[in-house]
Amino acid sequence: MKVLVVGGGGREHAICWKLAQSPKVTALYCAPGNGGIAQVATCVPIKATDVDGMVKWAKENAMDFVMVAPDDPLALGMVDALEKAGIPAFGPRANAAIIEASKAFSKELMKQYHIPTAKYETFTDLDKALAYIRAQGAPIVVKADGLALGKGVVVASTVEETETAVREMMEDKKFGESGSTVVIEECMVGPEVTVLAFCDGEHLVPMLSSQDHKRAYDGNQGPNTGGMGAFCPSPKYTPEIADRCMKEIFLPTVAALKAEGRPFKGVIYFGLMLTKDGPKVVEYNARFGDPETQPILSMLDTDLLDIFQACVNGTLDKMDIRWKSGAACCLVLASGGYPVSYKSGYPISGLEEAEKLGATVFHAGTKAEDGEVLTAGGRVLGVTATAFSLEEAIHKAYAAAQPIHFQDMHFRSDIGKV
Ligand code: AMP
Ligand code: GLY
Repeated sequence: MKVLVVGGGGREHAICWKLAQSPKVTALYCAPGNGGIAQVATCVPIKATDVDGMVKWAKENAMDFVMVAPDDPLALGMVDALEKAGIPAFGPRANAAIIEASKAFSKELMKQYHIPTAKYETFTDLDKALAYIRAQGAPIVVKADGLALGKGVVVASTVEETETAVREMMEDKKFGESGSTVVIEECMVGPEVTVLAFCDGEHLVPMLSSQDHKRAYDGNQGPNTGGMGAFCPSPKYTPEIADRCMKEIFLPTVAALKAEGRPFKGVIYFGLMLTKDGPKVVEYNARFGDPETQPILSMLDTDLLDIFQACVNGTLDKMDIRWKSGAACCLVLASGGYPVSYKSGYPISGLEEAEKLGATVFHAGTKAEDGEVLTAGGRVLGVTATAFSLEEAIHKAYAAAQPIHFQDMHFRSDIGKV
């Protein structure tokens, strides 16, 4: 089969790496791809958000299957457009991808179907929002409604901080139209765990649980990033909690979306907080997480294309999805200054030595030029290792990162430990 993956980050490298192992995949393409993806797939220079361009290329080049990984093309209806063109595509249609694209929608869905989450109110009027904040007091959480590159959330510890955040979103339009509607919600406390799950519209199969590290610096300090590292499974996600999540959160979410005429086919990302009152939803995403995907797919034994096809065909309940025992850890090597400002175009060395030490190095922001691999983004590489225990996997990932070098390279030294 000729398969196209849409996207070009570390997550897409892991997806392509795993799909390339499938005996069914005879030709693999990735648009736009990156310097590492080019080792396992043919990169096609089309932007991930170019819906018309992508569908046209997939049709002209007779793709048998397309996997859409990032949130924007999903929200823009790329899967709908591919289906219309007669090409089987993995990922939710726009009307289901809305669980990530609109926080107001997903909060309303959870309220209506009694899915545990933080108490909240939605506002389009600044004065009403400010009055609500003053009445509730701090700590409190403010979220821009739409997609804001993961940066539209402020967990504020004082009323003043909360007011500033709301004004920036609603008055100054810091996140553009994403902030015209804001969700203000109760601040939850507890460890955070992520569970990604395959869905076929009706059935759901959770993957291994995982945890990521969103802050830029050690000890969970500094600005929020896309994720500085991740590991799986999470020791905090016990079988008892998993049972509760399945009954109280996962199955009700899939059933709610189906009942609303928005059947979800693809991967649902459940961001969970394990509060003293039980697990609650922090957020839904409509896609694989980045960097969680890198360690998770490193642990998958089953053919990924088979799973994707079962999701599209509604036969996920017939699949036997198997995982390796042990654990995996992904350490992100970022450009100095990320996520605020950073330079790109620096040569990267030591990649082969890292692989020799038993790790898989997934490329996030790189490009291949004249036989050299150069940095080309904030998050540059994800050094990923599997082992029989989490401690060993962490150790192996850090050891493999040792020989890698590029100018101003930055990474956290406590991935998997806090
Ligand atoms: P989100 O983009 O909704 O995942 O939010 C980003 C981060 O903000 C989450 O990973 C949490 O750490 C934090 N957060 C979001 N909502 C809440 C909440 N209601 N209570 C406490 N922390 C939250
Ligand atoms: N690692 C968080 C995300 O993919 O949204």
